[in-house]
Amino acid sequence: MRVFIAIELAPALQARIYQATQRLRHELPGKWVEQENLHLTLAFLGEVQPAQLPGITQALADVAAGTPPFNYATGGLIGIPTRAPRVVALAINTLPQFIQLQRECKNTLSALGLSVSVRPPHLTLVRLSRLPLHRPQINFSELKSRATEISLMQSTLTPRGPIYRRLKALKLTSGGPQPRLRPNVAICVINPKNEVLLIRSREHSPKDWQFPQGGVEGDESLLAAAKRELKEEVGITQVEVLNILERVYKYHWSKAFLKRKQGHSKGGFVGQEQSLAIVCVKDLRPRLKPHPREAAEVKWVPHYELNKAISPKRRGLGRIAMVELERLMATKH
Ligand code: 2AM
Repeated sequence: MRVFIAIELAPALQARIYQATQRLRHELPGKWVEQENLHLTLAFLGEVQPAQLPGITQALADVAAGTPPFNYATGGLIGIPTRAPRVVALAINTLPQFIQLQRECKNTLSALGLSVSVRPPHLTLVRLSRLPLHRPQINFSELKSRATEISLMQSTLTPRGPIYRRLKALKLTSGGPQPRLRPNVAICVINPKNEVLLIRSREHSPKDWQFPQGGVEGDESLLAAAKRELKEEVGITQVEVLNILERVYKYHWSKAFLKRKQGHSKGGFVGQEQSLAIVCVKDLRPRLKPHPREAAEVKWVPHYELNKAISPKRRGLGRIAMVELERLMATKH
């Protein structure tokens, strides 16, 4: 299914835009957006699997919960691209909040392993069938509105134009107490053959292959936490640190996991905010001392098989590691 993230417009605003641009319909040939379809796109995801929707919705709920509602106003007509436009749209004046919200959507959804396309703020009016003979002009005073929610939308393409359907609307809220995520560091260990170390803890399911990882304690540095976890979980003490990517990935524990852990030291946290340390070892097969519970099984996998080898629910972080490994390899050679 084809999905995107939008700020929907109130019907009254859609009607005012439609009326204000009526005269242009004769001047600008093309496929005009239906009145009830006028919207602002924040980010475009394209094709996703239905099974990915819960993760996407949760990520958007997190973004919405940390974004206060904001005002915006329509600006003048713009052509996209500026030279030889294929689309005529209204500019949107707001703008730091809109762009910040787009950035948050992009970062959070990219961390789920999705490819997210973001365009400068605009409100599409018409997709042109040919270039206009002259620059279109309209005069109307700016229309003001307030964004109070973001929507996950499905777009079904039909010969008569797209059909948009709201899958979920998420209210923007003015901050308030945020669900707490535990700081955590995962460690991507590579050997001289660019193989990556994965472990499977006894605590998780038989297929839950992951990087060594653990919570960052108190005022411990990420580097110290990464070294401590490596030593505790697999007994590796000699590493060269190639890079540390700070707070690149967030996830929420499942309700079942939290229930199982009740009374344990989850400390009110509802998930983890992970940093990623990329480290290398000198030996192809360094001596490991796997912790019997934390690393019941260990394996080395070629880095290009990481996506396949790591547990599906950890692929977002795996993908971030892959991109960084490839960058490091490219700069090394
Ligand atoms: P547009 O209005 O600028 O054409 C549903 O198709 C929404 O997603 C539309 O608002 C459309 O933007 C946007 N969209 C479609 N393809 C896109 C892409 N590749 N990148 C960014 N936005 C896209």
